[in-house]
Amino acid sequence: MKKILITGAAGFIGFHLALACKKRGNFVIGIDNFNAYYDVALKKEREKILSKNDISILNIDILQQSELEKLLLSHNITHVVHLAAQAGVRHSFNHPEDYIASNINGFSSLMETLRKFPDVYLVYASSSSVYGTNKKTPFHEDDKTDHPANLYGATKKSNEVMAASYRHLYNIRSTGLRYFTVFGPWGRPDMAYFFFAKSIIEKKEIPLFNRGQMRRDFTYIDDIVDGTIAAIDKESDFEVFNLGNSKPIDLMLLVQTLESFLGQKANIKMLPMQPGELLETYADIHKSRQALNYSPKIPFNEGMKRFVEWFKEFYLLEAAIV
Ligand SMILES: NC(=O)c1ccc[n+]([C@@H]2O[C@H](COP(=O)([O-])OP(=O)(O)OC[C@H]3O[C@@H](n4cnc5c(N)ncnc54)[C@H](O)[C@@H]3O)[C@@H](O)[C@H]2O)c1
Repeated sequence: MKKILITGAAGFIGFHLALACKKRGNFVIGIDNFNAYYDVALKKEREKILSKNDISILNIDILQQSELEKLLLSHNITHVVHLAAQAGVRHSFNHPEDYIASNINGFSSLMETLRKFPDVYLVYASSSSVYGTNKKTPFHEDDKTDHPANLYGATKKSNEVMAASYRHLYNIRSTGLRYFTVFGPWGRPDMAYFFFAKSIIEKKEIPLFNRGQMRRDFTYIDDIVDGTIAAIDKESDFEVFNLGNSKPIDLMLLVQTLESFLGQKANIKMLPMQPGELLETYADIHKSRQALNYSPKIPFNEGMKRFVEWFKEFYLLEAAIV
């Protein structure tokens, strides 16, 4: 039986992945440090649901190497899916130290732990941000990734090259997944689609950088989970894959879609381009289609509908708590 440790299990992707792995019969255990980057209550709500499904999350930081070691040993872990990280681009402008701590030192702590468990297979989250200022679209895995537009992208790129050196030196096999703008129920409040939905309901201004002239390859959470599970099962020797939808969406269309599902108009504030942002993300998914049988199924509109249905329920609940 596969025994999977998910780091960042109280997070958006980790939560969905844990449920899906459990459902297909894997043993699943999670760790998370429950940091306050966004609403901890949301992380705790996700934890409650996992707990009802017999999945525990231990409050451990990935920097705690000896705790990781104990966990791998005591549960005979066969696979680690490493999702714990400081996510988000904007936060990196003012809090670079959070990215160095979790994404560089944290990744290093995990790799050093895995040196003692070379049979454990690693799948880790990279990001479309590694493509940085590249102009050529769609982004292909073989494109250059040495000009990240922000520190977040730089840390994700570092993870990929660190993984390469651990493969070379210590035979630690891994797959890095370059996720593209993942969205859906139980999503991250700091991401634009969530933040826009909240602002529309609260009748607050929505800042649209570059006057809305930006495109994102929105990818529904269930497709990301399927691609991640395929990577766990495939156990490539050493690979990175794009996991995106390969259909970039204009930010103006995002706003209009949210307006129509929420039944309210947005109050848009057009702003100039902000340094560190990307104009477009667009995944070439031929490689993941071929190797992982990855095939995104949920179109943007259907995914946003599902998100808004969940959001309305969650938002009302949150409003009742406050
Ligand atoms: N959501 C996206 O669109 C997207 C896109 C590209 C890449 N990613 C990557 O996928 C992974 C998961 O993203 P997510 O959207 O679920 O983010 P998330 O913030 O919801 O989940 C990350 C979880 O990791 C935990 N964490 C952070 N630092 C930790 C540490 N030092 N020790 C232990 N736990 C820690 C956080 O508390 C959080 O619950 C991240 O690595 C992120 O960078 C996400």
